[in-house]
Amino acid sequence: MILIRGARPYGEDAVDVLIADGAIAAIGAPGSVAVPDDAQIVEADGLILLPGFVDVHTHLREPGREDAETVATGSAAAALGGYTAVFAMPNTEPATDTAGVVEQVWRLGSQIGLVDVIPIGAVTVGRKGERLAELGAMADSAARTTMFSDDGSCVSDPSLMRRALEYVKAFDGVVAQHAEEHKLTVDAQMNEGAVSARLGLKGWPAVAEEAIIARDALLAGHVGSRLHVCHVSTAGSVDILRWAKAKGWDVTAEVTPHHLLLTDDRAEGYDPLFKVNPPLRTAADVEALREALADGTIDCVATDHAPHSTEDKETEWAAAPPGMLGLQTALSVVVQTMVQTGKLDWRGVADRMSVAPARIGRIDGVPSSDGGPAGPNGGHGQPIEVGRAANLVLIDPDATWLVAPSELASKSRNTPFAGFTLPARVIATFLRGTPTVLDGALAATAGATA
Ligand code: DOR
Ligand code: ZN
Repeated sequence: MILIRGARPYGEDAVDVLIADGAIAAIGAPGSVAVPDDAQIVEADGLILLPGFVDVHTHLREPGREDAETVATGSAAAALGGYTAVFAMPNTEPATDTAGVVEQVWRLGSQIGLVDVIPIGAVTVGRKGERLAELGAMADSAARTTMFSDDGSCVSDPSLMRRALEYVKAFDGVVAQHAEEHKLTVDAQMNEGAVSARLGLKGWPAVAEEAIIARDALLAGHVGSRLHVCHVSTAGSVDILRWAKAKGWDVTAEVTPHHLLLTDDRAEGYDPLFKVNPPLRTAADVEALREALADGTIDCVATDHAPHSTEDKETEWAAAPPGMLGLQTALSVVVQTMVQTGKLDWRGVADRMSVAPARIGRIDGVPSSDGGPAGPNGGHGQPIEVGRAANLVLIDPDATWLVAPSELASKSRNTPFAGFTLPARVIATFLRGTPTVLDGALAATAGATA
């Protein structure tokens, strides 16, 4: 049993929260919750309590690129970032495109036990965009994968995309599209605009993203299926999403922390830490993304945590792979860009980082081992109330911290925020009542502090 003392759910009035058997057993005014002598006390005076975060877009690199990240190191980074569940992208080696690989990743995640790791299945065999992978077999596997993506690559063929959308309807699945018309981004290095013209780097036009989002929204509407748009990065994409949602189509979208904060002029130093796909865009795009996340046009924040080894990343810009770390800095960047600017309150943060992504990934239901809709991964993104699974995060809203790459839990070091001083820190994370992260200064036993 754990008693969290004096925490503020959603930043509201302080309460005591008792956790027993992995669930929230009692919530009451400070001092009012009876607590057994052997309970562990967490002194959370003034800290903010939110449902544990859910990331629908993480690259864990296992199997195949364990030099860059493993399920273990990525899980540790996730827990430290306040996450209780992450969806692992299938651009592994081999690709996560069969029930066998899906189960392998899922079992690794549950053995490590720091966060629920839900593998995303590839849409096409080997992510080659040629023929559909065994979506049904992956959905039937122990992992109950219902999200599919060829992320890193776009499902370019519209008839394959249509068939994938039709297929996932059978199990209420979703296709998460990496929206990029590859024929418009051949050799592209950064956002196409004034900065790329000045630097002489080949540009990546906004229309390459927007054209696919428009096409896929039309397909999802036509088929009556669920589309999720990965890492939306342009103001034009936001307009298209607004239109698709107004039509009543089942289209959801995510934005990354780096697209909420950084702009394309970061490329000026030719430091590949700022190379990412989709690329960093303009200040006007950043403003449109913040507005869209605030008004719900963009449903959630997803990190696109993309570890790359120092060997791969420390090379010239054109040769470096795109991608940035994100799990341990996501909350802080969201606080800086959305909370400190008055665009989201703490309830809004809970919605965009926990409730909405849990719903999109269908892990918001009651967990079940017998094939219920949430499968074994349920219980995330739920309200903080008695009876709910104790998947929770405690945050110090007033802390600031200096991002030091060598101190991150990830196996890779490619954070674009190195040297930034960011607001807000994760103090503790609880997965089904078990602390996966807990600042030692807060912990005591009831007997010792009474
Ligand atoms: O920047 C990116 N990195 N974008 C992607 O779509 C893939 C990812 C990766 O796997 O490194
Ligand atoms: Zn992607």
